[in-house]
Amino acid sequence: MSGQPLVVARNVSKSFGHVEVLKGIDLEVQRGQVVCLLGPSGSGKTTFLRCINQLETYDGGRIRVDGDLVGLEERGGRLHRLPDKRIAAQRREIGMVFQRFNLFPHMTALENVVEAPCQVLREPRAQAVARARALLERVGLADRAGNYPAQLSGGQQQRVAIARALAMRPKLMLFDEPTSALDPELVGEVLAVMKELAADGTTMIVVTHEVAFAREVADEVVFMDGGVVVERGAPAEVIGAPKHERTRTFLARMRAEHRA
Ligand SMILES: Nc1ncnc2c1ncn2[C@@H]1O[C@H](COP(=O)(O)OP(=O)(O)OP(=O)(O)O)[C@@H](O)[C@H]1O
Ligand SMILES: [Mg+2]
Repeated sequence: MSGQPLVVARNVSKSFGHVEVLKGIDLEVQRGQVVCLLGPSGSGKTTFLRCINQLETYDGGRIRVDGDLVGLEERGGRLHRLPDKRIAAQRREIGMVFQRFNLFPHMTALENVVEAPCQVLREPRAQAVARARALLERVGLADRAGNYPAQLSGGQQQRVAIARALAMRPKLMLFDEPTSALDPELVGEVLAVMKELAADGTTMIVVTHEVAFAREVADEVVFMDGGVVVERGAPAEVIGAPKHERTRTFLARMRAEHRA
């Protein structure tokens, strides 16, 4: 169904040992929309993204992507963990880009992008190569296809990582602070690629400290602190006129750090 949101999270909770790091998170992402998650260090942003693509299990609540319960199935009124194969199938439909680029160091940019479609999706190699070239062009790296990660700047590596995630034709793209490990002068080129993806209708959840990016690109901004959603809404509201003191304090700190 195209009318329902692509992502629906309800009351998601997660503890590590005795520490509850997600305390009932709700989130909806409509198809083609961009949601930016902001929040201080330790607020649970990464953990929440990792629950959506099942790098972590969650303890309570429900996450649905495209109508399917993530990691679980309901049988006889009870929830059961899905078999690994089905979890792997669900994970293939979600692309994730991390703070660190995690490219395969012994493969060229092109090979990095070709690898998963060939190995996992069993795409014919010629077709995967053609698509990988098109994706590298899309992220502005057509001329770098033959370079190894060590021969690329951080911004270029991150753009290869984005192309690699897109090669799996994901329904949803998750970004976890994709620019925070980059030198400041390389941030813009990665944000520009993300802006284009957003403009092309890619559904994205972006954890970022780039407040200006969130303000410009997000359809909704969600501010988390201490494992809860403190405030959410249009960027003009949450960033432009935050209602909560915690949001204001966080934004003021971000602005101060950017000026520094
Ligand atoms: N594998 C783990 N085991 C134990 N505690 C964890 C684990 N992963 C995260 N935590 C804790 O969960 C809390 C939330 O961490 P998380 O990484 O989700 O925060 P974050 O909002 O992404 O922070 P940052 O902005 O620093 O990336 C933190 O207190 C963290 O120490
Ligand atoms: Mg994090």
